[in-house]
Amino acid sequence: MSEGLRIGLAGLGTVGASLLQLIARHGGEFAERCGRPVTVTGITARDRGKQRPVDLSAMQWFDDPVALAQDPGNNLFVELIGGAGGVAETAVRAAIEAGKHVVTANKAMLADCGQELAELAEAKGVSLNFEAAVAGGIPIVKVLREAMAGNEVARVFGILNGTCNYILTRMEDEGLDFATCLAEAQRLGYAEADPTFDIEGHDTAHKLAILTAIAFGTRIDAKAIYVEGISSITPADLEAADELGYRIKLLGVASRTETGIEQRVHPAMIPKSSVIANVDGVTNAVALEADFAAQLVLSGPGAGGAATASAVMSDIADIARGSRVGTFGRPASALKPYKRAAMRAHAGGYYLRLTVYDRPGAFAAIATRMAKHGISLESIVQRRRNPHADAPEHLTPAAPQPVILITYETTEDAIRAALAEIIRDGHIAAQPQLIRIEPLG
Ligand code: HSE
Repeated sequence: MSEGLRIGLAGLGTVGASLLQLIARHGGEFAERCGRPVTVTGITARDRGKQRPVDLSAMQWFDDPVALAQDPGNNLFVELIGGAGGVAETAVRAAIEAGKHVVTANKAMLADCGQELAELAEAKGVSLNFEAAVAGGIPIVKVLREAMAGNEVARVFGILNGTCNYILTRMEDEGLDFATCLAEAQRLGYAEADPTFDIEGHDTAHKLAILTAIAFGTRIDAKAIYVEGISSITPADLEAADELGYRIKLLGVASRTETGIEQRVHPAMIPKSSVIANVDGVTNAVALEADFAAQLVLSGPGAGGAATASAVMSDIADIARGSRVGTFGRPASALKPYKRAAMRAHAGGYYLRLTVYDRPGAFAAIATRMAKHGISLESIVQRRRNPHADAPEHLTPAAPQPVILITYETTEDAIRAALAEIIRDGHIAAQPQLIRIEPLG
């Protein structure tokens, strides 16, 4: 058997502790499969005194992750600290500089400086692997980097944040509002203490940036992503979606268009018949459309210690076997500058929920604005907001009522311009809700 892999492990949170349990349980079989034994020789974490479900006594403790990254006692650095900038990045750079392979789950760091790290790893002749950074236990990085090597990818999209999917599923199933479901997600430990990163779409954007770079062979550019979160979604939207044959999911979508690559994160109405419309709770799903492989959908646990540790271990296995692939699936120097397709040119159908003053001419004025911008309406439905429709006091002519419009394909520019005019016309009583319709097979 070849020389063993000696791991320096930085970060002993949920994933780090699960990785130690995984190695304890499957280390022997791993050595057989990969031809090299694996041991964790050095560890570091923020809090040395914390109770952990694993015996750390055989491992050398380091107070400083950078010292662990540079220590000759390990030949593979596993970074599970997380966060862009900061000590995680300093330690990763130190490990690569020291000529060590690196495995990381750090999507924020890759989104921020993935190109630079890929170039550094290449210059030093080491691997930088990150299966666990995107969609937890789903092996989507491997599929895109390796299995898609003979394909041109047209679109990659998915449900990449378990917290948001959990919230939307609960809202839909139980008619609960956003705040209640977010509080539940926090109570169950799905959402972070500060959940903004999840619910406003930034976590999804980091993961999408990584997928885009691999799928399209471009330099990673997370700042180019259009991002909207789910905090404005109401039970009324989910109910309307259901009646119209859709479900609402927070999607990350990257697609090749005539003007460049479109990267966007936003809630989307997706047909109930599509595979990913039926992915519920904290589960993630990633779909690919490629010229030879056609359509693939992978789904599974997007977070959690065990699933994420499994992804980390698959990266360790590649290193143990000597299997090396360019960080983003090709040499760093071959990654093309990212050409952004402007969001205002996005083409698609739209769902609009307007709170319209119920008076003569309001519908006509809205339809006129739509027509002026070349927007054709597939349906327009006025819904009585008050269930006691018999009660005369609720039927005063000017009482605002929800109106749902579905458009045929138009552009973001056109719908935004029409909406701005509708707001100026004074027929609506509240901020409009706009949700893009994503055509899926
Ligand atoms: N906070 C993420 C989620 C998990 O809810 O999916 C880690 O990326």
